[in-house]
Amino acid sequence: MTQHLAAPAAPASGTHTDWWRGAVIYQVYPRSFADGNGDGMGDLDGVRARLPYLRDLGVDAVWLSPFYSSPQADAGYDVADYRAIDPMFGSLLDADALLRDAHDLGLRVIVDLVPNHSSDQHDWFQRALREGPGSPLRERYHFRTGKGEHGELPPNDWESVFGGPAWTRTPDGEWYLHLFAPAQPDFNWEHPAVHDEFRSILRFWLDMGVDGFRVDVAHGLVKAEGLPDIGRSDQLKLLGNDVMPFFDQDGVHEIYRSWRKVLTEYAGERILVAEAWTPTVERAAAYVRQDEMHQAFNFQYLGTHWDAAELREVIDASLAAMRPVGAPATWVLSNHDVTRHATRFANPPGLGTQLRTAGDRALGLRRARAATLLMLALPGSAYVYQGEELGLPDVTELPDEVRQDPSFVRASGQDGFRDGCRVPIPWTTEGSSYGFGAGGSWLPQPTGWGELSVQAQTGDPASTLELYRSALAVRREQPGLGAGDSLEWLEAPEGVLAFRRESFVCTANTTGAAVRIAVPGRILLSNAEVETADGKVELPADTTVWWAV
Ligand code: GLC
Repeated sequence: MTQHLAAPAAPASGTHTDWWRGAVIYQVYPRSFADGNGDGMGDLDGVRARLPYLRDLGVDAVWLSPFYSSPQADAGYDVADYRAIDPMFGSLLDADALLRDAHDLGLRVIVDLVPNHSSDQHDWFQRALREGPGSPLRERYHFRTGKGEHGELPPNDWESVFGGPAWTRTPDGEWYLHLFAPAQPDFNWEHPAVHDEFRSILRFWLDMGVDGFRVDVAHGLVKAEGLPDIGRSDQLKLLGNDVMPFFDQDGVHEIYRSWRKVLTEYAGERILVAEAWTPTVERAAAYVRQDEMHQAFNFQYLGTHWDAAELREVIDASLAAMRPVGAPATWVLSNHDVTRHATRFANPPGLGTQLRTAGDRALGLRRARAATLLMLALPGSAYVYQGEELGLPDVTELPDEVRQDPSFVRASGQDGFRDGCRVPIPWTTEGSSYGFGAGGSWLPQPTGWGELSVQAQTGDPASTLELYRSALAVRREQPGLGAGDSLEWLEAPEGVLAFRRESFVCTANTTGAAVRIAVPGRILLSNAEVETADGKVELPADTTVWWAV
């Protein structure tokens, strides 16, 4: 990368804004957002052309899922070259142009960093394979001899998150560790070369002008000494609930302290965001101590049902966990790894975040809209996953032969649910791939997708897209929205949440029936028609209302 390509972070350095504390960050999943060259696969040019849409939507920043050179064994979360763009997405020049345009529009750009594992096609891994057992190059990954008389059994009992053993045997007889797919060998973070390499990668992208990094599998880098057995099968059930010998080990924090130091050398308030699967919000808070990362995803919130009592508990726990470390709470309902929330809320509670049943779509959408207004009212930063502003459901009816999620391809008993939220989004009511691009779409879009398109919804005040636009516009103007680290709960009937912050009040009826409450103020926004009379307001089922007081 030559110097003349470097784009400055936005806005011009020197001003300290703490922009990220209340930022709304929009996740772009590049292969499914917009296709600039008509090959059926989204790309950086496509994203660049749609930046004005994101500016007009009213988000503060864009997080791009991986676009690096990759064999795409896990949709780009298997990186072969951390300093190159995969040709399917474009080139470094395209990335530079995208960064410049985004900054000109006042949008920040966060890129995905994948430090837990590389692709098996990464030069380091290929060389390690070629050089054979005993080579120092193997120490950058976890190579081991197997158990059993002839080393025919894996070195320990760890299971891959995608199913099956977390070890694969090489032709020379050694095994290597992969917490995800076999094409994703885990780096050995005990090795100094790995540390040096990732600090260098951080600098490469910081020099390019990115505003931050979403750190993939931030909880996984350090493994317990000796790689001890877990002693039971079905380990997937433990993930996110227990501290595992390969997840959420205390040693990871030292790494993020060293990265934070690198970021502070750069002007422009660049940030680190942890994708950390931790058993509790308190353990997530450890990743965002003052000298570590800036934000951590709130997966506890993502997993919460549309239920007032549950929501209140998680909101309180999240705010209480983040306050002592001085980090903002974050809120998220959907991403590229879970069933979209419009579909989760369309199904009975208790099915988790990975399902393939469409459920009651009207109900799901109504709750999703109400849930969005609640999320955007909370103190802290919020994440929006592409297409949720259109109220998109998960595409639950994808035929098996088109599915590409490695957890589908690999495991028996798992169902590759992640493809359903990755179907390219509709921009226009008609036309080839509904405006996604001039060609097809790498996953088939369902019929009727055009009715949910940006074009169909623009200008319709009842649409979900216009609801998001209004919400984000009000959020910028109204004091108390998205700001601070606390809120004051107000008395409310069962199933209703009501809270105040500064001159703002939010009421959310999570029940399936209308509820009457006293009018708290002047209506700013609501996801459904509400009627006020004689100082009372009837909140329809699944309705959130924003009030100025
Ligand atoms: C993260 C990503 C997911 C990916 C996995 C392995 O959880 O969000 O998409 O499959 O890491 O990199």
